[in-house]
Amino acid sequence: MREYNVAIVGATGAVGETMREILASRDFPVNKLRLLASAASAGRRFSFKGEELGVESLNDDSFAGIDFALFSAGAAVSREYGPKAAVAGAVVIDNSSAFRMEPQVPLVVPEVNPQDVKSHQGIIANPNCSTIQMVVALKPLHDKYKLKRVVVSTYQAVSGSGKKAISELLEQARAQLGEVLEPEVYPYRIAFNVLPHIDIFMDGGYTKEEVKMIEETRKIMHLPKLAITATAARVPVANGHSESINVEFEEAVDIADIFRLLKSAPGIELVDEPAAERYPMPILATGKDTTMVGRIRRDDSVENGINLWVVSDNLRKGAALNAVQIAELLVTG
Ligand SMILES: NC(=O)c1ccc[n+]([C@@H]2O[C@H](COP(=O)([O-])OP(=O)(O)OC[C@H]3O[C@@H](n4cnc5c(N)ncnc54)[C@H](OP(=O)(O)O)[C@@H]3O)[C@@H](O)[C@H]2O)c1
Repeated sequence: MREYNVAIVGATGAVGETMREILASRDFPVNKLRLLASAASAGRRFSFKGEELGVESLNDDSFAGIDFALFSAGAAVSREYGPKAAVAGAVVIDNSSAFRMEPQVPLVVPEVNPQDVKSHQGIIANPNCSTIQMVVALKPLHDKYKLKRVVVSTYQAVSGSGKKAISELLEQARAQLGEVLEPEVYPYRIAFNVLPHIDIFMDGGYTKEEVKMIEETRKIMHLPKLAITATAARVPVANGHSESINVEFEEAVDIADIFRLLKSAPGIELVDEPAAERYPMPILATGKDTTMVGRIRRDDSVENGINLWVVSDNLRKGAALNAVQIAELLVTG
């Protein structure tokens, strides 16, 4: 079997470290792995499949001989180096928001629109973490009952803001029991608080995170007119995003059938046993590759409505795993 030269840009970050782990655990056919980060990290060492690898400082020559360049170093780095990596011959799989809404760039969730990878011109975008877990849950339901309207509210873990945010939550949580610490990553204290604010505010009062969920869902599902609204909140959870999703369908729904569809859908784990107090939670989803769906119930306030509670590991399915699955689609054709 052919092996590929792979580069991780942002290899020292929360997503980059998860990518290294997932490439190894899924036995992706790696010939050579190149770990790239800022100059500050050059020389740091990490192991990959028993081999010690040094981190290199990202530069214009980093992509010579690279087949797949997995970017997770923020949108500014992707905008500067993504096109350079593609010109050097690599297929870029980008975790940032830099290219997601560009018409010629496929935005791919392998369980939802795998066919879209075929149209790539060197760059493929990985959707926003909250969008990915939502569309994994919506796709099998849309195929049968046709989405009419979606209302989503998120409860997003701090790992979605990178390594510094995880430290900030843990340090503040400790400090709340003693001294007061000033916030750095977020505008307000995150420990023992909820921030209805992820990314910047846009016209109309939505945040950019909410706009991403709306626009990306329409693009991935090829439903440009889908009625969908979102509220995104940051909660003091280290890892694992939760979502309350209210869905209205065109067709009359059968709740028992909704359970069956979700149970057999790819990438989904049904966790819905109220009598046993079993439902999806970040502490269950962390470290797992599945998108957990539970609290499934009819919404009697509208025709053909249901409610879902969806939880997934944002560093895995929300970022690193989805990126590696896209590379696998290209490798297996
Ligand atoms: N966290 C999530 O759940 C998630 C989900 C989906 C998408 N994403 C996206 O993935 C990206 C990374 O997120 P993260 O959570 O992993 O952040 P992070 O923990 O802060 O890591 C950032 C990484 O980018 C590197 N980097 C920063 N500036 C650089 C530069 N100028 N040149 C080269 N490397 C540079 C850092 O290297 P140093 O260590 O050397 O600074 C580090 O490896 C972001 O675009 C984010 O939006 C994140």
